[in-house]
Amino acid sequence: MSEAVRVEGLTKDYGRLRALSGISFSIREGELFALLGPNGAGKTTTIRILTGLTRATAGRVHFFGRSIFEDPLYAKRMAGLVPQATNLDLELTVWENLFIHGLLFGMSRGRIRDRAAELLRFAGLWERRRDRVRTLSGGMRRRLLIIRALMHEPRILFLDEPTVGLDPHIRRRLWGLIKQIQARGTTILLTTHYIEEAEFLADRVAFLDRGRIVALDTPQSLMATLGEAAVDVVSEKGLTTRYFRTREEAEREAMRLSRSGESVTIRRVNLEDAFLHFTGRKV
Ligand SMILES: Nc1ncnc2c1ncn2[C@@H]1O[C@H](COP(=O)(O)OP(=O)(O)O)[C@@H](O)[C@H]1O
Ligand SMILES: [Mg+2]
Repeated sequence: MSEAVRVEGLTKDYGRLRALSGISFSIREGELFALLGPNGAGKTTTIRILTGLTRATAGRVHFFGRSIFEDPLYAKRMAGLVPQATNLDLELTVWENLFIHGLLFGMSRGRIRDRAAELLRFAGLWERRRDRVRTLSGGMRRRLLIIRALMHEPRILFLDEPTVGLDPHIRRRLWGLIKQIQARGTTILLTTHYIEEAEFLADRVAFLDRGRIVALDTPQSLMATLGEAAVDVVSEKGLTTRYFRTREEAEREAMRLSRSGESVTIRRVNLEDAFLHFTGRKV
């Protein structure tokens, strides 16, 4: 498998604020890679640099071995962007929004028609193609935003918090769509502050905290650094959590604690525990 994205020592200063402090990572072709971190961690800044919307202060980025700073037009062709804030034209129809994007990317009218039809069917929006975007639900708008980014057949898709603010069942539907896009061969870089989203979708996750990557691995390996099971203990002092290599060890400890009157629950270690462990902070 070839390397789709390589980021080395990426740094971004906004005046005196260092938003990114020399982050490095690479993404394999076909992989879904997540940047997980709280608000202000530097997720959007990373995506904006990788999609040519803002300049890096230092560092290098390559797509399939080619420098995107030296060849920004190549980078634009390779990348599809779903920005954090929806920037669809609400007064235009679904079809028109896709059509204009195609024209901006220099696609022929015939190719735009074929591609738009295929993507609208793929995202379950074909029946709505003649409707103004204003009349679509939040989930539909988000689906449209995603397929619009795919119009010019980018090999790398950048999704900046694609499900933020959506209801859980609509979020699940979008997760399905994102998985399908990956299955068709697109490399995906996704940012999120939803732990379950990264855990469910990502092949590998980087924990981003205040402009630094503090851990990077598969969700399974990140969780395994803590163990298999967690015991939550609620007391007057609040909630404390202890981690155990095996479920049996956790059960023994839970038994002991509940005999001495503590309120305990055993559960599986999740990615939130790992994030807390590596950053000392909640997402
Ligand atoms: N255009 C800008 N000018 C000044 N500071 C910015 C700008 N964009 C982002 N920042 C700051 O950079 C840091 C990272 O922001 P951002 O990349 O948007 O984080 P995230 O997407 O993870 O929430 C934050 O402290 C934010 O306030
Ligand atoms: Mg952001």
